[in-house]
Amino acid sequence: MSLAIADYGSLQAPLLTEFKGIPFLGASPFIKKDPLNFLSALVNRSDKVLKMQHVGQTVFLVNSPIGIEYVLEKANKKFRKGNFYNKVKPVFGKGLPVLEKEDWKRHRQLMQPSFRKQELERIAYLSVELANDLIAKWTSSSNKTVNVDADMAKLTLDVVAFALFGADIRKYADKVVQAIDDVLSIAELRIWAAPDLYWNWLSPYYWRFKSARKTLDSVIYEFVERRKNGETFGSDLLGTLIMAMEIHGEKKITDIELRDEITTLLVTGHESTANTLTWMFYELAQHPDIQEKVINELFENLGNRNPLPEDFDNLPFTKAVIQEVLRLYPAAWSLARANLEDVEIEGVFIPAGSNVMISPYLMQRHRQFYKNPEAFRPERFLNGEMDSVPKYAYFPFAGGPRGCIGEGFAWQEIFSVASVICRKVRFELAPGQKVTPIARVAIKPEHGMRMVITEHHRSN
Ligand code: HEM
Repeated sequence: MSLAIADYGSLQAPLLTEFKGIPFLGASPFIKKDPLNFLSALVNRSDKVLKMQHVGQTVFLVNSPIGIEYVLEKANKKFRKGNFYNKVKPVFGKGLPVLEKEDWKRHRQLMQPSFRKQELERIAYLSVELANDLIAKWTSSSNKTVNVDADMAKLTLDVVAFALFGADIRKYADKVVQAIDDVLSIAELRIWAAPDLYWNWLSPYYWRFKSARKTLDSVIYEFVERRKNGETFGSDLLGTLIMAMEIHGEKKITDIELRDEITTLLVTGHESTANTLTWMFYELAQHPDIQEKVINELFENLGNRNPLPEDFDNLPFTKAVIQEVLRLYPAAWSLARANLEDVEIEGVFIPAGSNVMISPYLMQRHRQFYKNPEAFRPERFLNGEMDSVPKYAYFPFAGGPRGCIGEGFAWQEIFSVASVICRKVRFELAPGQKVTPIARVAIKPEHGMRMVITEHHRSN
């Protein structure tokens, strides 16, 4: 690998490190192979803005809280979603994460009410009920080794489908989880591929993608039809979206937009929370003392009852554990933008049309802002350490107008599911289970996450 300080004249020379990588391909082969470790090594040697080549395109990785605040918040109008999002368009279509300008605004305004505080209660009750079903399945089986990642994927898919679309997706859960995994992993392969050999008629990946997309479409069209025929009811997001197609005879959204928004929410709303919960149970298993503290806090506050939405405020240690998991394993580990005009970030000139990359993963492990950044230490959220951490050195849900619409949903779901599960079982990593975080669209455990559960009972 070749690191060279570029000479860009007086404006930016001392600040800018440039990674040229391999001729024409630039950094992409390194990023494709192991993005988390490669980029971590690179930013550790570098400054606030790092320049990389990627198959003939220039990427500026912005790695400072001030720079990130500028991109996401202060100067957000100077940026659009980056070229990398073109590769995820076949997944999200005309869904919120890839829409721009007026279309984005219209969809965001339409969907925002379904994520209001009052709606979160429903999410809490649903999450508790479905987590209890899973616990009953786990504890009634004689096999105490469970596939935590697979079970969290199904559970969070059920929650999002019930909560937003009033749909019972359980009988399709396996094939929908697999289809989502396929579309996302192929989209991710394409982002860093150089050249993009995955997207043509001769590529088996292309056909796997198409088949997965067809599976998702058939399930989604089925629950849209059932709602339109009056077989299901609900004042949920599906109801809002269908109404928006029809009110005043003026189509606020089209059939395709409806399908794409449902796909978007099934995908974004389940992968992110499933992986957060999986990493949480992994970290608890690695730190039995912390696991014990969570269990004690839950028993002291809840006794033998289920958690209620309002309990969250009384469980500071459990909350700190979730915050620390979101710091070390932010589901959206990298964000991409393209600047519409020339900008200067941290003294570095970035010409219009460049790719700008931001990584919550890299920033949230930054040595300058975190003591012992690689260590799992929930107490940093309780002992005042985080008071000196700038806003955009901890931003798992991003920020500014394009910040996560599902932040409240995610918190409520993760908290409810984790509280139900930790009150009933303890986790240990299964013998022989290898654990390697791998960056797909979210950060996932490459070899799955088999864990051994032990039930625990306490009388209050
Ligand atoms: C741990 C859980 C989650 C994390 C860490 C997370 C993180 C993020 C981040 C960082 C973004 C900004 C992406 C960007 O700027 O490029 C985002 C956007 C988004 N998230 Fe989440 N998310 C989570 C859960 C959810 C859930 C549960 C839903 C829906 C049910 C959801 C729906 C969305 C949508 C639709 C967007 C696009 C918003 C827009 O562009 O206006 N997310 N999320």
